[in-house]
Amino acid sequence: MKKIEFFKEGLKNLKAVGAFIPTSKYASQAMIKHIDFQEAKIIVEYGAGDGVITKHILKAMRPDAKLLAFEINPVFCEQLRAIEDDRLVVIEDSAEKLGEYLAQYGATKTDFILSALPLVSLPKELGKRILDTSWEYLAWGGNYIQINYSTMAKKLYKHTFGNVDVDFVPRNMPPAFISVSRKE
Ligand SMILES: C[S@@+](CC[C@H](N)C(=O)[O-])C[C@H]1O[C@@H](n2cnc3c(N)ncnc32)[C@H](O)[C@@H]1O
Repeated sequence: MKKIEFFKEGLKNLKAVGAFIPTSKYASQAMIKHIDFQEAKIIVEYGAGDGVITKHILKAMRPDAKLLAFEINPVFCEQLRAIEDDRLVVIEDSAEKLGEYLAQYGATKTDFILSALPLVSLPKELGKRILDTSWEYLAWGGNYIQINYSTMAKKLYKHTFGNVDVDFVPRNMPPAFISVSRKE
């Protein structure tokens, strides 16, 4: 997808999209380095957008693994469906329904969750439900990996998972913070 089209979706749905520019390859790599690709069989991505992080995940994933990508914007879902990879399942629905879709794909837990959801601009209750659901369905030892443009939501991850580490990635527009919480 062209950057201008992403920008237009950002303008149309500012609170839900929460950005005007897709995540950079530097920030994408800073997120995916927290996934153990040798082991991961089910990976979940929230707010996949036009698939910029999705493509990095698919490149590193095992041939027998599955990536469940949640995205509510139909224009972005069309872009995601155009990625021809049998391991990718595009779910045009809200991230809070993770449990329902895991069951549909024969799984009870996910090994890793990556999220580019704009948790700071989403309704507070929705953000809380998504984090609680993530804790419930993340396997023990798995990571919840979230990109943000501030550290405002850090306390939410700490509250839900009991721990959080934050990396700063200056080579992103705007500069990004990658929060990683482990279910332990
Ligand atoms: C900041 S954009 C990230 C897009 C892309 N992953 C990237 O990193 O450039 C956030 C995305 O989250 C999606 N989104 C917002 N609320 C959502 C929800 N409840 N469930 C799934 N996706 C959601 C938006 O439509 C948007 O595409």
